[in-house]
Amino acid sequence: MHLLIPAAGSGRRMGSQRNKLLLTLLGKPLLSWTLAAAEASQQISWIGIMGQPEDFPDFEAILKDLSPKKPIELIQGGTTRQESVYNGLQALPIGADRVLIHDGARCLATPELFDRSADALLGCPGLIVAIPVKDTIKVVDEARIVRDTPERSHLWAAQTPQGFEVKLLKQCHEAGRLKGWEVTDDAALFEKCGLPVRIVKGEETNLKVTTPVDLALAEFILRQRS
Ligand code: C5P
Repeated sequence: MHLLIPAAGSGRRMGSQRNKLLLTLLGKPLLSWTLAAAEASQQISWIGIMGQPEDFPDFEAILKDLSPKKPIELIQGGTTRQESVYNGLQALPIGADRVLIHDGARCLATPELFDRSADALLGCPGLIVAIPVKDTIKVVDEARIVRDTPERSHLWAAQTPQGFEVKLLKQCHEAGRLKGWEVTDDAALFEKCGLPVRIVKGEETNLKVTTPVDLALAEFILRQRS
């Protein structure tokens, strides 16, 4: 199974000048925790990381420290996550028929979650890892007036990994570029093209490190694990 890791973002919402994936968690860069889990997965055999060229020296240092047994390639990212994934799809080795995509910022995903997703992807064209939401979710307009309260039992919070047949996902990305769709995950492109996306049960601890609070929570969880 091939894995693409979008890692070409910035640290804006983290209030950091640098790519947040280079911030440290228990003394190691965030990205190295993500990569360690992917390296430990039994199903993943090839990893591509999409990054900004100015971060490549730091990514190479992380790889040197990890000394992975799997082939890992650095791929130039884009100005949006969607564009970074598009670039990653073009860089997949010939013959790659299924791919998992996992945000570098989800550094607490376990090797078992990758393996479970890879196994499930053998039986469907597209899937996302997700968990049922615990909060009641409100739809709010520009004036911050609540417009709707969707039935909670139908709401799931999407995580990554997300997995797809490569040929189909490439078609969906091409359709998105043509029609100007801007989305925040790959499943949304699949959905817009009318293709089915299956749910695989995610992990509550699989948080996306976005703000300084997430960084503190992630450190707490990693400490509990060790
Ligand atoms: O900003 P956010 O955390 O939602 O980004 C999700 C993932 O997408 C992160 O791992 C980030 O590095 C990546 N990303 C990317 N290319 C961009 C923007 C974000 O690969 N241009």
